[in-house]
Amino acid sequence: MKDFEVFHNIEELDNESKYLVHKAKEATIHAYAPYSKFHVGAAVILDDGTVVTGANQENASYPLCMCAERVALYTAASLHPGKKITKLAVVAHKRNHKELMPATSCGACRQVMLEFEHRQHAPIQVIQLAKANEWVKSADIGSLLPFDFSGENLLAV
Ligand code: THU
Repeated sequence: MKDFEVFHNIEELDNESKYLVHKAKEATIHAYAPYSKFHVGAAVILDDGTVVTGANQENASYPLCMCAERVALYTAASLHPGKKITKLAVVAHKRNHKELMPATSCGACRQVMLEFEHRQHAPIQVIQLAKANEWVKSADIGSLLPFDFSGENLLAV
């Protein structure tokens, strides 16, 4: 089931989402993106209110680049095991540019988000800037990745 809301002004988002977008923006400072110059920041909030951030980390061997979302998710799981992630925000900008660029999570990150959602048995909301002035708030990862592949597929004979 696709379940998302679109906001044409960031001010229309709820306060927690705005705060998380702000933390994701701050996290872009720690991006290491000498190749793409695309600085991405992600922030997740846990069920106890803790915020964990991540930024993309690139490598001269391009396939080894790691997206901001996965840095944030894996850091949250490692530092705060057992805590549920309730929401994730991701933003991006080009180096030396203040304005945000539209950036929706890649398929690999969506797949990883989905497994987080399954393992914690609770939805993760996602806030992304899909187009200029178009913030999308998805109710869960299933809305971003329908007909997914999960551990259940491996159990089915
Ligand atoms: N990137 C992310 O951090 N998140 C995404 O969802 C899409 C792409 C990063 C990876 C790479 O460092 C740069 O953006 C260009 O693809």
